Amino acid sequence: MCGMGGICHLSLTMDEVPLSTHNEEHTRLMQNLQRSSGKWDSNHPRHRLLTALYGYTSYKDKNLAEVNRWRNLYRNVPKQQRTLLESTVHYTRKLNTIEHLLDTNNELAKSIVDHGLSFYNISQSELDEFVKESESQKRPADKTSVSQGMKHFVRDWADEGDEEREQSFGCILKSLAQTPRTADRPLRVLLPGAGLGRLAHEVDNLGGFDVTMNEWSTYMNLAYRYVSSRSIPNSVPFHPYIDWWSHHATTEDLQRSITFPNQVIRPSSVLLIEGDFTAVFAEHTGQYDILVTLFFIDTARNLVTYLETIHRLLRPGGRWVNLGPLLYGTAPFVQLSLDEIVALSESMGFEFQETDPSVGDITVPGLQVRGLDVAYGRNARGLNKNAYQAQYWEAVKR
Ligand SMILES: C[S@@+](CC[C@H](N)C(=O)[O-])C[C@H]1O[C@@H](n2cnc3c(N)ncnc32)[C@H](O)[C@@H]1O
Repeated sequence: MCGMGGICHLSLTMDEVPLSTHNEEHTRLMQNLQRSSGKWDSNHPRHRLLTALYGYTSYKDKNLAEVNRWRNLYRNVPKQQRTLLESTVHYTRKLNTIEHLLDTNNELAKSIVDHGLSFYNISQSELDEFVKESESQKRPADKTSVSQGMKHFVRDWADEGDEEREQSFGCILKSLAQTPRTADRPLRVLLPGAGLGRLAHEVDNLGGFDVTMNEWSTYMNLAYRYVSSRSIPNSVPFHPYIDWWSHHATTEDLQRSITFPNQVIRPSSVLLIEGDFTAVFAEHTGQYDILVTLFFIDTARNLVTYLETIHRLLRPGGRWVNLGPLLYGTAPFVQLSLDEIVALSESMGFEFQETDPSVGDITVPGLQVRGLDVAYGRNARGLNKNAYQAQYWEAVKR
């Protein structure tokens, strides 16, 4: 069977992560979510989950407020010019249409909330109470995280994301597909910061891998739990681009509907372990054959801790496969250049391997790292074509 990028899958029986592993993880998750487990503050897992549920619940209000702001800005346009705009491009109608399309997206946001409440066993009244309290304490719902979570449905689970996925998953899947393995001893793969999990499921589809993904963001986890509960392909429509009006060739592009999931997910095949990668795998030292970091390492507050964790979780001889940019966030403790990351990793006990030259050119002479142009969350029909020189390497733990 040949899949993404013409990669041929081994004819191994599809692996299911044993049910007991899923059950154990579910029990652990539910325990961590108890209010009584740990200090009740904004870092508590239940608080973080309720915050994300509040975010999705507020989808319509937040976006409507933005459209109203645009309407108010439009009032600054002199009357004569507005008359022209109305008779040619029907600007008010465009604002009205967007407002109407927000309803479809709000249906999706509501479904994510409903599924989340049932999956995590949280009552509507507890969420209502949390929303009331947040509003009274002037804690606004996070519109950006909700929008990012929903846009990832395109990156990971819609046909429109095919090209972007091909660019970034291709070299990783090719390398994994060529890794010797057998059905009776599947290789254990971990993907931290896995977002909505498509790569994890693509690795699983190769056969012969026992796949665990990890994600810290409760916005992402709610979206993943939702998408993995859908059993009919392309049954969920939404309008991913209506909240940002830049870079559209046509208004039809801006307003277009995208459907997902383009592939039905077998949630039982991949295990999701929620939480901070550097904290939740305390008991998994040396348990993984392969760690795959895709657009991940630059999310670190402390990059050294990420590298140490990757090293610790791999068995001796295990392999770290990385692809991603070095786009540091707002408050990282250290910000390293590529050559510094390689030097640090080598000093921790990683040996960088030669990789397939077809992946891309060597970025820095003397370092076994290749660069390739990769987009991230791009609107395929947009007028902007931003891409990263993402860095690919494979390093073995000595
Ligand atoms: C840039 S996104 C990439 C997502 C996915 N790998 C992809 O390529 O679509 C980085 C992801 O890492 C997650 N993340 C950040 N810090 C994390 C941590 N300490 N543990 C686990 N996940 C984390 C973020 O929530 C986000 O979903």
